[in-house]
Amino acid sequence: MPPVSARLSPAMQVVTQAVRKAGRRLLRDFGEVENLQVSVKGPSDFVSTADLRAEQTLKEELSKARPGFAFLMEESGASGDESWEWRWVVDPLDGTTNFLHGIPHWAISVGIEKRIDADRTEIMAGVVYNPASDDLFWAEKGVGAFLNDRRLRVSGRREMKDAVFATGIPFAGVPRKAEFSSILHRIMPQVAGVRRFGAAALDLAWVAAGRYDGFWELGLNKWDIAAGLIMVKEAGGFATDTDGGDPYASGHVVAGNPILQPKLREVVAEGIAAVKARPAG
Ligand code: IPD
Ligand code: CA
Ligand code: CA
Repeated sequence: MPPVSARLSPAMQVVTQAVRKAGRRLLRDFGEVENLQVSVKGPSDFVSTADLRAEQTLKEELSKARPGFAFLMEESGASGDESWEWRWVVDPLDGTTNFLHGIPHWAISVGIEKRIDADRTEIMAGVVYNPASDDLFWAEKGVGAFLNDRRLRVSGRREMKDAVFATGIPFAGVPRKAEFSSILHRIMPQVAGVRRFGAAALDLAWVAAGRYDGFWELGLNKWDIAAGLIMVKEAGGFATDTDGGDPYASGHVVAGNPILQPKLREVVAEGIAAVKARPAG
């Protein structure tokens, strides 16, 4: 099989070069973060700087190669032509809390979004790169999803009792804690396991790789999911929001293999409905 570099389209070559460059720098910073754990204040200021610098590197590299593309980036927001035809959707560091705590599970996520018409856009390609493991997940519409050179397929499990699902647990300052508890309460007794590893972009890439049978999380941002959603789709999986609609529009994501995703979505929707039905107060 030809190496990954020979199989990528020109736009994807641009992205992989950019994420590898930003990733090298982040990995050096990560080594420093591990040393800072013992300080009382911890490495949080250092990490914010590393995050911003990674975004800057990505912006420079991507705009050099494609000057006409707009950006949606976590730290600096939307920039470029408002009537863009193409844009980069970038999370320079997904899994910040892991990074901050010296846990080697974090990634750079870059999606390529195309405007189809006045009210419709589509993700055409995406890369999720974990520098600590050198795992480069990538997908392109109609080409497939890959981990480095290996083609990815979602898992073949069919039964809830065999399934391992990933999720995101709300934390301080984040809403929907009651919904999360209600959903988890319903899912726990039905499945082989639930995981919370702390990087939504990698969670979706791992669904594409068949490691998780599914993933749900409410209230995500476009930069968390742009790349991961096309990965799941190109690996033969499904991703919807909790009502079966577009997860990219709402940020509420239920992804999985084609058999288990509808079952997971149903339980997630039941959990949310149960909270809504509670008397106020
Ligand atoms: C977060 C991670 C986490 C998810 C949060 C995200 P960040 O992104 O993806 O897994 O639970 O909802 O905000 O802040 O590390 O880029
Ligand atoms: Ca994120
Ligand atoms: Ca981030």
